[in-house]
Amino acid sequence: MKRYLRHPFWQSGLVLIAAYLVVTLGIAYLPPILGIASAPVPGSVVLQYMATVLVGILLYVSSDEDRWREFKEPVEVMLTSPDKRYVRSALLVAIPALIGVLTFFQVRPTVAAPPNLRSIHPAPPSQISFRGQPIVLDRLENPLRHEGDLNEHLAVGRRTYYQNCVACHGDALDGNGHFADAFSPRPLEFGTSTIAQLTESFVFWRIAKGGVGLPREGAPWNSAMPAWEDVLTEDEIWSVSIFLYDQAGVSPRTWEAE
Ligand code: HEC
Repeated sequence: MKRYLRHPFWQSGLVLIAAYLVVTLGIAYLPPILGIASAPVPGSVVLQYMATVLVGILLYVSSDEDRWREFKEPVEVMLTSPDKRYVRSALLVAIPALIGVLTFFQVRPTVAAPPNLRSIHPAPPSQISFRGQPIVLDRLENPLRHEGDLNEHLAVGRRTYYQNCVACHGDALDGNGHFADAFSPRPLEFGTSTIAQLTESFVFWRIAKGGVGLPREGAPWNSAMPAWEDVLTEDEIWSVSIFLYDQAGVSPRTWEAE
């Protein structure tokens, strides 16, 4: 044992282990004992510290001819001596296997949710194209509210909703349709916390362009809301909007007067 402790090769190993313990555990747990706040060192910083320590050790052992020769001796013995061939073979398997395992844990995909915050109601664009025609969303009101028979629009909206939306947004407009559990983000309920705070032009935009039309703030999860632009007509979308507000018992947010 004493012979080993005086040998530069094994001494270097001990210094490396001690440095590792100081960096990983010492920095995190020793200062709090003295009442000084501390935190664990991130993995990449540990790696940098360890590289620095290794360079220091190599500089030290190679600064003296005798020490350098002594340091290299166990390595040379291990690589060349016939009676070390089992150790040699074992290391030949163990070192690549270790690198393989470390690589696996580095690249292994994780299922943790992305840390970004998602904006549920991102700012709409001021203008969209609907079936090739430009529609200015800014200050746009639902034209059907002043046009034709409101009860007729309601009926069209109801039919549109139960034919297309109920499976996700639910019978009670509470976002709990049959398919709702399959989606993240879940379909939204329609009520005071959602559409009541939105202008109808916003609702029109969301129905027409769906999850795919959301700007970047709507990420990182993909919204399953379909784009209805090519399925429903402009009037059907305005009608379903009338139906949603009617059922939720709220009125759309109005544009502030300038
Ligand atoms: C495949 C399931 C699905 C169907 C079908 C569906 N939606 Fe959605 N819808 C969603 C999801 C999921 C969201 C929430 C996404 C989000 O937060 O971006 C959503 C969001 C919305 C929003 C945005 C609400 C808000 O507060 O921003 C509106 C409006 C909407 N849907 C209306 C409709 C209408 C109208 C229909 C039928 C024409 C419909 N949806 C059909 C899944 C669906």
